This record gives sequence, structure tokens and C-alpha cells, in this order.
Amino acid sequence: MNQPKRYLVTAALPYANGPVHIGHLAGCYLPADIYVRYQRAQKRDIKFVCGSDEHGVPITIRAMKEGITPQEVVNKYHAIIKESFEQMNISFDIYSRTSNQIHHETSAAIFRKLYDDGLFEEKETEQYYDEEKKTFLADRYITGTCPICGNPNAYGDQCERCGSALSPEQLINPRSALSEAVPIMKKTKHWYFPLQNYEPFLKQWILEEHKEWKNNVYGQCKSWLDSGLQSRAMTRDSNWGVKVPIPGAEGKVLYVWFDAPIGYISATKELTDKWADYWCKNDTKLVHFIGKDNIVFHCIIFPAMLKAHGGFVLPDNVPANEFLNIEGEKVSTSRNWAVWVHDYVKDFPGMEDSLRYVLCANAPETKDNDFTWKDFQDRNNSELVSIFGNFVNRTFVLMHKLCNGKVPKLHLDILDQTDRAIIEDIEKSKGKVELALEYFKFRDALYEVIDLSRKGNKYMQEKEPWIKARQTTSNGDLTEEAQKAVDNCLHICLQLTANLAVLINPFLPSTANKMLYMMKVVDKILDWENAGKIKLLSVGYSLRAPELLFRKIEDTEIVVQVEKLRSGLVKAETEQKPQENKSESMSSALHIKPAIQYDDFAKLDFRVGTIVTAEKVEKADKLLKLEIDLGFEKRTVVSGIASHFQPEEIVGKQVVVVANLAPRKMRGIESNGMILMAEDKDGKLKFINPDEVTGNGSPVS
Ligand code: 2FM
Ligand code: ZN
Repeated sequence: MNQPKRYLVTAALPYANGPVHIGHLAGCYLPADIYVRYQRAQKRDIKFVCGSDEHGVPITIRAMKEGITPQEVVNKYHAIIKESFEQMNISFDIYSRTSNQIHHETSAAIFRKLYDDGLFEEKETEQYYDEEKKTFLADRYITGTCPICGNPNAYGDQCERCGSALSPEQLINPRSALSEAVPIMKKTKHWYFPLQNYEPFLKQWILEEHKEWKNNVYGQCKSWLDSGLQSRAMTRDSNWGVKVPIPGAEGKVLYVWFDAPIGYISATKELTDKWADYWCKNDTKLVHFIGKDNIVFHCIIFPAMLKAHGGFVLPDNVPANEFLNIEGEKVSTSRNWAVWVHDYVKDFPGMEDSLRYVLCANAPETKDNDFTWKDFQDRNNSELVSIFGNFVNRTFVLMHKLCNGKVPKLHLDILDQTDRAIIEDIEKSKGKVELALEYFKFRDALYEVIDLSRKGNKYMQEKEPWIKARQTTSNGDLTEEAQKAVDNCLHICLQLTANLAVLINPFLPSTANKMLYMMKVVDKILDWENAGKIKLLSVGYSLRAPELLFRKIEDTEIVVQVEKLRSGLVKAETEQKPQENKSESMSSALHIKPAIQYDDFAKLDFRVGTIVTAEKVEKADKLLKLEIDLGFEKRTVVSGIASHFQPEEIVGKQVVVVANLAPRKMRGIESNGMILMAEDKDGKLKFINPDEVTGNGSPVS
């Protein structure tokens, strides 16, 4: 698209059924904020909208669990989420909520227009129904075993283990998420949106006209479109949500994925009377920032709805990120395996930029990534403190010591090759950062900024103004030549510092503001057009004393965080035990294998053994080759546990081995036995072993 006249940026509306964690920030809110701050610095007409997604099953389930009303749930979490975003300086122009009147009116009107235009199919179907709770079970109200990967806790709309989109009928052994009851089938009427009718349009618009979308986004859309779209119900049986605005639809509300994206429109309406300029004029650039689990809704379903309605712009881009894991494991809010933003800001006050930095430098832009507290500490200490912060601090300290706290002159007559090279680096960095930001490559953009400060350090190291400062005349003054060299070095370093403030501002706004304060300049200097210029600070202007931009993070702080994470997990698992045991034992009971006679069991020879070596099997992601000491002999066993354990962590562990299993070749290696493992509800494997060290070879019965 040519240079747009205005921008509208949206960030996925988070469900108001829990606080936000750092995975949410890394997924969409931080990249969206960086993009918007950059465009604002470019003086572009831009609006940044978001709000809480307050309808849908997650809210009603949370309300039932907490014994409060859905409205109480959303009031509580809307406030917490909003505050977390503010604390992290996510600069929405509006943070609205879908329980607002204006949103109900807007989404009802859009549904009504599609209905009046005859674009829905009205269908009566049989759906799962919980007789105990007297409610139909759609989406997350129903759980069961995933037909694709066997996860016993898949939802009616999606399996979180393998990521497959599901419908309730596909679940094996379905059960109600509300009561654990086995549901019955009951008739109900709903309004379906025939997505298949929009397939030709979507294929042309995405696959032909938006080849520039990120690979992960384009690829997911292609796979949906290639496998063919189907009608999707846009209403639900519930009393929480936007009422279906047509006769004969009592007790029905709009499907949350029908109303939630319309929340972007209602939030814009609430923000400005000129909302229609942003939504209905073709020279608007609409960008949806989301996480990868929202791709189909933003690239296929919502655009098809907008197209059907007519009169709205479609997204120009949907730069979805992948997921951020924590300490090597997938985030799980139910298991409390997450770093909560409200906890972070309490534990690291005034350090929101350190988190913004690490989440951007390590953003899951093209694949899932891992956040570890150690990496957080390392990046903060060795990149922010030792490179960027160190450069700015040294510049200010030396300028006060050697130039009376004032911006020194630039003496063109002695400008050398090193000076010219760093000036060129400053001039070029603007284009590099800009290009990366325009193409949603936030990691690359941030890298360029840090790299410029790294070059600043190198330049200063080469110039050594502190050594020049020793060249004095007999009365103690600097020689003219030395003074000129010191002046040039610090003049350039100060102009570089001002440039760094402009360039870092979209990423680390608090840091940019601290730098403005030290330089005693107004925020106008942060306009993007100032990047790449080396005359931002006037000669002779006196600057404030330096303040440290970042502080070091100590080992002990990191240990505390890792411990907090682990103890949070244990607490969550202990609290959930009674209920989960019930559901686990129910689902395991449903899967129990047919009865066998004792004689069959007695044929198995179980022995205790110790793993003495473990190594990965080449070209087999899942296999480990183990050598197990059974006391009377050592055995080679090939086991499919490589995605759960690192070889080095299991050496020395005692295990129970089926010792008389016939040999079997796996990847060319003969496996002589099998080790017993338990798999918990999340698919995590645990060893079965004696509770005390037992002699190798001991029989198990
Ligand atoms: O996945 C989620 O958290 C959804 N609440 C996102 C909704 S985005 C938009 F459509 F509102
Ligand atoms: Zn699955």
C-alpha cells in the first residue's frame, strides 16, 4: 500500500478472566506498542485501540468456579489488566471493554445487518447438553480426549497440546467442564455464517494479494483455505454476552468470536467521533497485532464478516507472534506456570524497560521462544547495563570532567577517519531501524539500536579522551591539540547519545525520558526525523549530571524468581488435586484396557535398573539410547522420552524395566526392554522407581 493517510492499530482483546502474563506482552502488546510509538514519532495519524474481551465461556467458567457473577469476574480482571498495561507503558489511545453499551449496540447492529441481508443459515442441530447444569456445552464447556494427539483434556474448540481446532463432536469420551457429567445430545437452533461462500474472496485477498504477510500467518491461512471452509455457528446458548438481536432467539447470545473483534470498532467509536475515517476509508492502514492462536479469527472469520457487511477496511497486515515459553515449559495459567505482569512490576519497581527490552530482544517472532530468568539477568546486565547504559554514562561523566558539563565544539579541521566512520554509522542507523520496524522485525530493529551504542563504546575506547586529557602544558592546561581531540570525541558521543534517545524511545520509553532529562531537552527531540542527525545538541549547552539508566540484577533476585515460579506451580497443583484427580481418574477409567488373567500378568518380568548412560539417537527427535544396569547385565534400551528429558539429567536414575520384552530394532539399534513411565494429565512423563535405592536387578511384582 502507498503511504497511508492514517493508521489504526489493534492489539488482541485479552479475556477478562485472569491477569496478563509476560507471554501476552511478548505476543502482541509490546510489539504493537513499539510500532505505534514509532509511527507517532513519525508524526503519523494513528490510533491504538484495545480493551477487555468480557464475554465467552472462559468468563462464565471462572465465575462458576469462584462462585461470583460473570460481571463481577470481568470487573475484577478488567481493572487488573488495565493497570498492568499502564505499568508497562503500553500506550493505548483507549482501553475499553466489551460489556460496554456501545459495544453491545455495535455488534448487535452488525449481526442484524448480516441477518437482514439473508447471509446467515438458520440450523437446528443436536448439541451436547449437561443435564445436571441444564446448559448446552459448546467450546470450552466441554472437554474430552483429542482425536489427534490423545490429550485427555482437550477442549471442544481446540486441543492445547497439539493446537488442532476441534468441534465438540470430535472429542473422544466428552464430559462437561462444569460438572464432569457425561453429556447427552439435545436439539438447539443457531445462526451459521457460511464461511465457504467467502473462500474465493479470501483466497484472492490473502494468498494472492498478501504474500508479504509473515510466514507463520500466511502458512496458517493457506492451510485453512486449502482444507476448505465450513459454516460456523455465530450464536450460542447462554445468558452472558450480546443478546442475539432477532425474534425467536431468547436465551441466545452472539458467539464470543463474533463480537470480540467488533470490539475494535466499538472501542474506536468510543475514542473518537471520527471513528468512521479509521474504519471505512481505504487510505487507512489497519494492523492487527495478535498471538498465533488468534490467526484464523483475524485473517479469515473477521475479514469475511467485514466483507459480508461491506463498507469496512480490511487489515493490511496481521503480524502474529508465536508463543513465549517460560523456563522451557509452555505457559499454563491453570498450573500457575507464568510470570505475571503485576508480580513483575512489584518485584522490579521502575524496571519496566528491562522487561520490555528482554521481551523484544527475545521475541517469539518466527518461532516459539523461551524466557528464562537467567537470560533476563544476562541481557539486562550485559546488554542494557554494560553496553547501552555504560556508553551513555561514560559520555556524561567525561563531558562533565573534561568539558565543564557543556557540549563541546566539533573541530572539523582534525576530524579523522574514525570520527567519520562513527558519524556515518549514526546516519545509517535511522534507515536500518526504520526499515525493520516498518516490516514488523522488532528484534532486528532493537538489535540495531544496541549495536549503535556498542559502536559508541568502541569509538570512545579507540579515542581514549581520558589519555588525551593527560597532555597538559606547563601551567596544567590541556594542550590545544589535546583539547580539540577531547572535544571532538565527546561532541560526537553526545550527539550519538541524543540519537540513541530517539531510536530507543519506541522500545524503552522511560529510558528515553531519563535521557531527555539528563540532556535538558524537550520531548520534541524524540521526533523520528531527528534520528540520523548529528546536530541535535547545541554547542555550549550545559547538561545535567549523569544518572544510571539501568541497574544490575543480582543472582539472588533471579533465584527468588525461579523459586517463586516453582512454588507457584506446586501450590496450584496441590489446590487443584481433588478436582483434577477426579477428572483424571474418570478419564483414565474410561480408557481402561480389557481385563487380563493373572497368568498373563505373571509372564511379565519387571526389574529395577539404573540408567548408566544416555544419549540422543541421531535423526530421531523423540528417542534416547539408554544403557541400563540390571545388576546381572547391562542392557541397551531405546526409549521415546527425548522430548521430556535431557540425557545428562537422567543418568544415575533408577527405573523399572520390563526385562523380558522381545528385542526390537529402532533406528537400527536393538532395544532390549522397556522402561515404565507415568504420564500426567498434561502429558508430562515421570519415572516409576522404588522410593529408596534398591539393588539393580531386584524383581518388581
Ligand atoms: O485469545 C484471546 O485472549 C481473545 N480474547 C482474543 C480476542 S481478540 C479480538 F478479536 F477481540
Ligand atoms: Zn491434540
